Order: sequence, then structure tokens, then C-alpha cells
Amino acid sequence: MKRLAFTVLMITTLIFSSVFLEGCLAPTSEPEDLIIEEPEVTLEEILRAELEDDINKGYLILANKEHSLDKDYEPHDLAEIIYFAKDRSPLWRKMREEAATAFHRLSEDAKAEGLEIVVTTCYRSYDFQSQLYYGYVNTKGQEWADKYSAKPGTSEHQTGLAADCSSPSVNYQLTVDFENTEEGKWLSENAYKYGFVIRYEKGKEEITGYSYEPWHIRYVGEKAAKVMKEKNFALEELIEYLDIK
Ligand code: DAL
Ligand code: ZN
Repeated sequence: MKRLAFTVLMITTLIFSSVFLEGCLAPTSEPEDLIIEEPEVTLEEILRAELEDDINKGYLILANKEHSLDKDYEPHDLAEIIYFAKDRSPLWRKMREEAATAFHRLSEDAKAEGLEIVVTTCYRSYDFQSQLYYGYVNTKGQEWADKYSAKPGTSEHQTGLAADCSSPSVNYQLTVDFENTEEGKWLSENAYKYGFVIRYEKGKEEITGYSYEPWHIRYVGEKAAKVMKEKNFALEELIEYLDIK
């Protein structure tokens, strides 16, 4: 009798401990048919997410020979630029607020290194761009005009995010010689730190549609400017890379 009781006790203990152990050792992950595959996130998607705010604020807007702006398009947040070439019209010294603040920082930091970088024109209305473009067509011919000047509606000056810069070393002119001045070199090396890029780069003429303009900077925000600098992207290339609609 004692022996039977002992055997029953042993069997019961074994059953309980195996159930207990199975609970402890059971894999914590889901059975295979319950695993939900995470979609793969690409680098481009991560970057697009990081740039979302700037995209929503319109800082990556494209205005070029293929993408035009409405005649009436005018940014809502234009602010005065305080560092400008004195002999130019005060009408076109404005940029969108964040771009203006960034330009002021850029100009002040350049000044701290003994360099004067100022704007000549920034925001330009559709009508003013029209006067400029057709003025060039009449004086220099259509071919020249199309290399250096945008038809009305296709100039990114109308976005309020572009500025033509110059310095006393080239007598405040817009000239390719600006690239060899201390100011031009500084601008090319440092603009991205303030969210600007040299918009019409050497070697990118086929992509941008314009000749090299070392004086024309474009605000895209600090994150995008850094990516464009690192990857040597024109704005068209960044937009294609990120698949921004
Ligand atoms: N110079 C640039 C292309 C413009 O006119 O907008
Ligand atoms: Zn320009």
C-alpha cells in the first residue's frame, strides 16, 4: 500500500513538474504563422520623414523650366534683408522669414571673418521677372537670356527662397568671377550650414537648365542643404531621390 502511494505521488510530481517546466521554457516569441513582417524602410523614406516639416513649409518647392508658379504666387511671410548692395532697388530685398534670418546669420558670420556678403535681389514678383527676362532677350538675345534668366513664372526668385549675392571685391556685380573671391569661396563652402545651397552649380547645367551662377543661393533648410552638399545633389536630384511629389 505504501509502495502504491509512493508511486502515485512520484507520477503526480512528474506530471506537474513537466507542465510547469514547459510553461517556463516555452518560447516567448509568437508562432511563425503569427509573425507580422515589418515592411522594409528605405534610407530615402527615413530622410523624407526627417525633411517632412521643411517640405510642408514649402522649402523644397521646385521652380524651374519644367515647374512653374502661378502668376499670383507670392509668399505670405516675406521679411526685409538688412545686408544688401546699396545701389539696388529696395523693392526686391525680401526673403521668406526663416530664409531671411538664416541669411542674416550667414552674412554676420562672414563679416566676423572680414568678408562682406550682401544681397542684390531676392524675392522678385512675376511682373518684375518678366521685365528682367524680356529686357535680357532684347539686349543680349534669347539664347543668352535662357541660360541665365528664367521666364516669368519659372524663377525661384518668385518663391522668396532665392538670393543673388555679391561683395565689394567684384563691385557688387553678379559675375562668375565671384567664385574666385574670398567671399565667393566662403559662400560655396559654408552656405549649407545656414540651410542654403549654390543652386546652379558647375557641372549641373543639364539638370538645372542654367549656367553656373556662383552668386545665386537658394534656401532649402539645414537638413536638406547638408544632404545636397554631401551627395553633390542639385535640387532636382534631391527631389527625385526622395520621390517628393
Ligand atoms: N537667374 C535665375 C535662373 C533666375 O532668373 O531665376
Ligand atoms: Zn538668382
